[in-house]
Amino acid sequence: MTAKRVFSGIQPSGDIHIGNYMGALRNWVAMQDEYAPVYCVVDLHALTLPQDPAELAGARVRTAKILLAAGIDPGRSLIYYQSQVPQHAELSWIMGTFASMGHLGRMTQYKEKEDKGGQNLGLFSYPVLMAADILVHRVHAVPVGNDQTQHLEFTRDLVERFNSRYGDFFPVPEQITPPVGARVMSLKDPTSKMSKSDPDSGSRIIVTDDADTILAKVRRAVTDSGNRVAYDVERKPGISNLLDILSAFTGRSVHQLAEEYSAAGYGRFKQAVAEAVIAGLAPVRQAYLDLDDADVEWIMAEGAAVARSGAEETMSEVRRLIGLG
Ligand code: AMP
Ligand code: TRP
Repeated sequence: MTAKRVFSGIQPSGDIHIGNYMGALRNWVAMQDEYAPVYCVVDLHALTLPQDPAELAGARVRTAKILLAAGIDPGRSLIYYQSQVPQHAELSWIMGTFASMGHLGRMTQYKEKEDKGGQNLGLFSYPVLMAADILVHRVHAVPVGNDQTQHLEFTRDLVERFNSRYGDFFPVPEQITPPVGARVMSLKDPTSKMSKSDPDSGSRIIVTDDADTILAKVRRAVTDSGNRVAYDVERKPGISNLLDILSAFTGRSVHQLAEEYSAAGYGRFKQAVAEAVIAGLAPVRQAYLDLDDADVEWIMAEGAAVARSGAEETMSEVRRLIGLG
């Protein structure tokens, strides 16, 4: 039996934080044992918000480096930059002709970015390119955090429209979300998700932060009134988020941890959270520091060559199906 195929992508816009790590990356690494994964640094998606060219180039290689440092193994996974495989953009155009404008306009991620002043066609059709990323490899599943659920539903909708016109060609991709860490919240506002684009860098822990920085950020994380550690997302969102983080880094349940720290006071509890995060990230940070940019770019170029040939197989069938073959 051939391994089930999965695809996922991450934007090279800013630094990878523990939300990305727990919601996506860590899961991606684990999936290598079971699946034939394709992981992509989606640089074309990053262009939907204004980018400084030098910064984008830097963020792109840093993102690739973090994927490798976290344990993505180019021997078992295909890893590459989206823009180096032009079939993504070609399929995006074709799938766009199946997209409902009403559906695109209802996407939360679009509405949020539009509110922040982003208004361009790329931002609007962002989910179409995301669907093309997934479909060009004809994968069965997509490991992502909770915030991508709407985009995955949209992808399935496109597949159904395409397949009902041209026959069962694309598999209907399912979403795979981790049981813990699928939605890590901001350390400064535990009611909104931890995000690369938050202007306050204290709101997120970067995968490559050193121990002192992590400790300082956890200490300054917003907590709730009182001093009892308990898991209660409604009334204690700050402490509950830290419990989720501790749980993700220790493998223990939030309820077990809440019981253990219930009388510890916030100070001791935060110390334990910081220590778990520092220990969990230390090997990734070290591997990151040991990697050389030139080696990373070579791995990415090799990956792109393999991805182009797989994607071209799909595209030649798609062109034939729609009458452009
Ligand atoms: P992005 O940062 O938007 O490129 O997201 C890359 C991956 O990280 C996607 O699978 C997201 O679902 C996931 N992700 C982003 N932010 C979070 C978060 N705060 N908690 C959990 N997963 C997240
Ligand atoms: N939209 C995803 C995000 O913001 C990134 C992404 C682009 C993606 N293409 C993808 C994720 C394909 C999964 C599959 O996080």
